[in-house]
Amino acid sequence: MNKIVVCGVSNRALGMFINPVINKFSEQNEIVGLLDTDERRIEICKERFPELVNLPAYKTNQFDQMIEETNPTSVIVTSRDDTHIDYILKGLEHNLTVITEKPMVTTVKDAKKVMEAEKKSKGKVIVAFNYRYNAFHRKIKEMILEGKIGRVTSVDLNWYIDTYHGASYFKRWNRKREFSGGLSIHKSTHHFDLVNWWIDQKPEEVFAYGALNYFGKDGELNPSPTDNRYCGTCNEKPECGYYMRWNSRSQAGAVKDDHVLSEGIEKSEQSYTNYRPDACIFDNEIEIEDTYVASVKYDKGAFLSYSINFSVPFEGYRLAINGTKGRIETQEFHELSRVPFPVPEQTIDYFPLFGAKESIHVVQGEGTHGGGDPLLQEDIFMGVDPNRPYEILAGAEAGAYSIAVGEGVWRSSKENKPLKVEEMMKETETVYIK
Ligand SMILES: NC(=O)c1ccc[n+]([C@@H]2O[C@H](COP(=O)([O-])OP(=O)(O)OC[C@H]3O[C@@H](n4cnc5c(N)ncnc54)[C@H](O)[C@@H]3O)[C@@H](O)[C@H]2O)c1
Repeated sequence: MNKIVVCGVSNRALGMFINPVINKFSEQNEIVGLLDTDERRIEICKERFPELVNLPAYKTNQFDQMIEETNPTSVIVTSRDDTHIDYILKGLEHNLTVITEKPMVTTVKDAKKVMEAEKKSKGKVIVAFNYRYNAFHRKIKEMILEGKIGRVTSVDLNWYIDTYHGASYFKRWNRKREFSGGLSIHKSTHHFDLVNWWIDQKPEEVFAYGALNYFGKDGELNPSPTDNRYCGTCNEKPECGYYMRWNSRSQAGAVKDDHVLSEGIEKSEQSYTNYRPDACIFDNEIEIEDTYVASVKYDKGAFLSYSINFSVPFEGYRLAINGTKGRIETQEFHELSRVPFPVPEQTIDYFPLFGAKESIHVVQGEGTHGGGDPLLQEDIFMGVDPNRPYEILAGAEAGAYSIAVGEGVWRSSKENKPLKVEEMMKETETVYIK
């Protein structure tokens, strides 16, 4: 039996890990303990899953006691990003399997600590990179492994986060670099990991520009220069385009923004003590960037041209991978319910360097994140699928390289110079540039 303790009873913990352990994988897995700074989170979990009502719950400083009393085999780390490091290191000290949500940690310095601790431990780190498991992303990996495009020379990846999803980061703790590492780490860790994994090359050097264009105190669509508003209680809502896009004045028939808690905040699974996830996207404290372009050079010669924007009228990405023998292209329009115009079905187009183009209609799976989450859950809770002929479950090194690119991106944009990953890995101080 895999006995699991959960550090950070977040929304992600409830949906991605606790629910499937109880309802799908309970034959081989059992939750034996919960840890969070906030007792409200423990209550919410026990209200949603009455089978856990007698489960012991622990505070941040009771990790060792939790391990002693519950004797787990695995630790799931689903707390606020900057706190992952504490539980990963402690889990490794106890020689446990540590399954952490992305980003593994929020700085290169901490990523290095994890890799060093893993070497000394009998335990291991798994990073829950669910995007790898998306059917299109697996197919692209398979095509590259089959040699369809030869050696990868360049990748163009443009990621678009829509106004609904993009704004959500600026309402929550994610908007503070000290908590999330900023969005080039918190969000782009997924994208950098995908590229690193697809092309199987290591990032060497990063150069980027970044800006805060939409959110924060100077956001052009800010109804007034007022600080510390919350959507649930804000009387300027009718003037806020980001709010009114998903809500109507009467609320009737509107798509409700799940981070806007006008009613029943205490009943919602988004309820926390001393914290609301509906803070104003135009608050003064917002310090991170919402727009980036970046170039990354890889050790076996590939170049990545990447951009991300967190306030686009639709969500999705455009990808092209060029190699010495051909090219792969795809475009995704995410969450069709939020795209206000007809969109084509996603395919993968393969262009051999010479010859006929092929369009591939990918067999898709059910479930969140393009069917990625359920497959990742199976690998975590049933053991890695022995019939998949390539590595997909990510470890600490993959976590670290995706963070190195992400930190390289925001720091390069501040310092206005390229940064070498190897040199960042040698630094001993955490860099925190406002
Ligand atoms: N892979 C994905 O697609 C995906 C999607 C969403 C979230 N995530 C990740 O999951 C994690 C949780 O995100 P969320 O948005 O669900 O979070 P959330 O805001 O719902 O919850 C954060 C939790 O962390 C707890 N916490 C804060 N400090 C803590 C500490 N020192 N020790 C223990 N707990 C502490 C809070 O009390 C809260 O319960 C994050 O790391 C996030 O990046 C991943």
